This record gives sequence, structure tokens and C-alpha cells, in this order.
Amino acid sequence: MILEQQDTTTTYNLGDGLRLRFATVDDIEPLAQFNGRIHGDHGFSEFIAQWTREFASPSHPTCGPEWVTLVEDTSTGQVVSSMCLIPQTWTFDGIPFPVGRPEAVGTDPAYRRRGLVRNQFDVLHAKSDRAGHMAQGITGIPWYYRQFGYAYAIDLDGGRCVYPALIPALKDGETEAYRFRLMTLDDVPLVMELYDRDCSRSLVACPRSEAEWRRTNFDVMPPAVPYSLLTIIETTEGRAVGVTRTGRELSWRGMFPVRMFNVIEGQSLRAVLPSVLRWLKTEAETVASAQQKPVPTIHFELGEQHPAFEAMPEVFHKIIPSYAWYMRVTDVPKFLNHIAPVLEGRLAQSALKGFSGEIKVSEYVRGFKLKIEQGKISAEAWTPDDSDQAMFPPYTFLQLLFGRRSLSDLRYMFPDCRAEDEAVVVFETLFPRRYSNVMPIG
Ligand SMILES: CC(C)(COP(=O)(O)OP(=O)(O)OC[C@H]1O[C@@H](n2cnc3c(N)ncnc32)[C@H](O)[C@@H]1OP(=O)(O)O)[C@@H](O)C(=O)NCCC(=O)NCCS
Repeated sequence: MILEQQDTTTTYNLGDGLRLRFATVDDIEPLAQFNGRIHGDHGFSEFIAQWTREFASPSHPTCGPEWVTLVEDTSTGQVVSSMCLIPQTWTFDGIPFPVGRPEAVGTDPAYRRRGLVRNQFDVLHAKSDRAGHMAQGITGIPWYYRQFGYAYAIDLDGGRCVYPALIPALKDGETEAYRFRLMTLDDVPLVMELYDRDCSRSLVACPRSEAEWRRTNFDVMPPAVPYSLLTIIETTEGRAVGVTRTGRELSWRGMFPVRMFNVIEGQSLRAVLPSVLRWLKTEAETVASAQQKPVPTIHFELGEQHPAFEAMPEVFHKIIPSYAWYMRVTDVPKFLNHIAPVLEGRLAQSALKGFSGEIKVSEYVRGFKLKIEQGKISAEAWTPDDSDQAMFPPYTFLQLLFGRRSLSDLRYMFPDCRAEDEAVVVFETLFPRRYSNVMPIG
């Protein structure tokens, strides 16, 4: 396939009458029907169909038909495989970097295992790299995306659970001190403030503009099919003190997901949590009964760390280990140069302040040199040879880069991850383990 000169009218003949091309507005409804059918866990998913209409629409802020590929069978004119890539900007400790997010990857059962998805990844990766995306990230089925240059590198979906039966009931004569109502447009500034605070705790984050909050919560989804609901927590006098974001369906783990929970500065988390938990329990019951399921466990899908877990540890009975974002970074030295100010800050705060040196790093299939001069950091591509001071099996370095694992974790996991003494100190200083919880643009 010629990937360099591609534009939105380029088509690729895959043989057997199959043709790969970018979508047009005329494809939006057939794609909505295709994705609703392929991705519905329990029959056709109206949510997926509606979401497809959104991301494939020219009015989507970053995606649109030119970021959607499809394979059609020219003998029937039917879509038989499709995926998209949603451009967005994430931050690394505050430094913005452009990301492409592949999504809605699916092939009709009759056409599977013929490389249709592999071909679409080739096309969309070429386009994404050309657009300057410094990374691609996908939340996806186990193992599969490793084949396309991805490694699990950022925590996803982990958190802690609360068993509904153990939520403390109101005492006799006691009334709730907090109440709950759906977010309105007037609440957007508050939600943004609380969300931005969450982002500042997260090494990798996805900032959202006011327009994005409005788009996803008020403009695009008919009320019958939203993915999640934002609810304002307020005092009985009507003073807003916090927000929750909850799922409208049980998660793939069969639990009721809480995807955001935060309170304003000065509001005690411990004071508000009992009312929040009682309210979540009733929400969880409603969602579960619509799916004919028993009362589910409430899962605070907020990652490994959250202030709520510390505020009321006695109710968060179980830790749910994180799944992970698959990440792909084609040009690691470029990425390192981009985030050099963060790395230089880490160096300046450490025992390595003032250190100068050069570390040659092998990722076996590629490599880079990391140079440190008077506190300044730069990186360049390097073809691995016998003089490397650190070795990482392909793509595992991304776990270190994005803070999911430490160097000692990686050395424990992979015998072919090695580092000489000086490289150990440098990497432990530059790449500590860090919490991340990314809420992407969809
Ligand atoms: C998973 C899915 C998208 C694969 O589509 P596909 O068109 O069969 O994928 P491809 O043939 O391009 O796959 C590329 C490679 O992965 C292999 N492969 C396909 N499905 C696989 C699977 N489920 N697990 C592991 N490997 C798989 C193929 O054999 C191929 O290998 P090869 O190039 O070495 O021959 C398809 O099975 C599907 O639509 N499933 C239901 C929806 C879904 O789960 N989507 C993913 C959501 S994250």
C-alpha cells in the first residue's frame, strides 16, 4: 500500500473485491448501522450507532469522516469493516501533546482474520503520524493491539469498590445533608474547575474546553442514550459542592461505574461520602434492574489513587487492578525532547542535579540516545549496538515513560530489560511511577 501520498479520496484495493477507503458523509448512516450491530454486547447498540453519527460527522470538533476508514465489499456495496481515529490533545505533566485515538474497530464476522483491520491501522497510522500526532492511544480488547506497535502503558479503569450492603444507612431521625440533581449548562464552570483539578493530579490527562463539555453533555446525545450522567451534589440549601459522573450501563466488569467524583475546595469528602454512597446505591439499582441484573457493586473507576479512598477507607473494601491504555509512540526521541522541561524539572529536584552524561538506550528494534548537559536534556535516534547502557524489550519503555511502571518493576518483569548502574539512577530519577487517569475525547 502506498501510504505517503494518501488523501481522503485515496482507495486501496485489498483483493477479493474488497476496497478500503475513507468515509464520506454518505457513509455515516450505513456506518452507524454497522457499528451498532458489530459492537453491541446485547444485540444492536443504539448508543454506539449514535456515537458513530457523532464522531463521523463533519461537525465533530476533531474527527469527522476523513478520520474514519471502512472496507466495502464491492460485490454487495456493504461495509464489512471499519474503524476511526479521533484526534485530541493530551498533557504530560501539563505539557500538551497531540494524540490520535483509534476507536470503533470492527469487522463483520464473515470477513474476519483477513487483515482488514491491520490494513486500516496502516492507513490511519500513516495519516496520524503525518498530522503530527506524537502518540496513539487505544482502550481495547486484550492483547490484540500489541500486533500494531502498541504497548500497555497508562493505567485504565482501575479503582476501588464499595459493596452496596455495607453502605451505612441513615440513622433514625437523621436526614440527608446533601441532595443530587442533573448537571445543567449553568454548572459547566464548576464541573470544569473540578475536572481540571483531577487532571492536575494525573501525569497524563486530557484537558476539555467549555465547548467540549457542552458538546458531549448537552448537544449531541439524545437523552435516551447518554454514555454517562453528570450529577451535581448540593447542600439542602442548594449550594453546589461537588460532582459525580456515573455510567448508564453496567461496565464490562458487571459493576456500576463512577467515572468522576470530586468536591469543591473546603468541602469535606468524609462528610459528603455517606450521602453520595446512598445515592449511588439507588442509581446502581436502577441501572442494574434495567438490565435485569441484581444490585451491583459500585466501582469508583478513578484509578489507583483518589482522595476519596483516603477519606473513607473503611467502605472501599476491594482494590480493582487497572487495565491499561495501549500506547504507540513512533518517535520516542521526539517525544522525549517535547517533554524535556518536565524531565529537566525532575532532574533539578533530585540528587542528579548538575549531572552530565549520555545514555545509549536499546529497544532492540530501535533505540535512542539520551543526553544530559548541565541540566538540559535532549534525545536522538540511535541504532542499538553493543555499547548500550540500557535495554528494553520492544515498546516496554513506554510503561516507564508514562509512569505506569518503574525501572525496577520492568527489570523484575523482563529479564531482557537491563541497565548499567548510571542508567539505573538516571532512569529512576527521570521516570518515577506516577498516577494517571485519562478521560479521552470520544
Ligand atoms: C477484533 C476484530 C476487530 C478483528 O478484526 P479482523 O478484521 O479479523 O482483524 P485482522 O484480520 O486485521 O487482524 C489482524 C491480525 O490479528 C489476528 N486476529 C484477528 N482477530 C483476532 C483476535 N480476536 N485475537 C487475536 N488475533 C486476532 C488476525 O489473524 C491477523 O493476524 P495476521 O495479520 O498475522 O494474519 C474483529 O474480530 C471484531 O470486529 N470483533 C468484534 C468487535 C471487537 O471486539 N472490536 C474490538 C474492540 S476494541
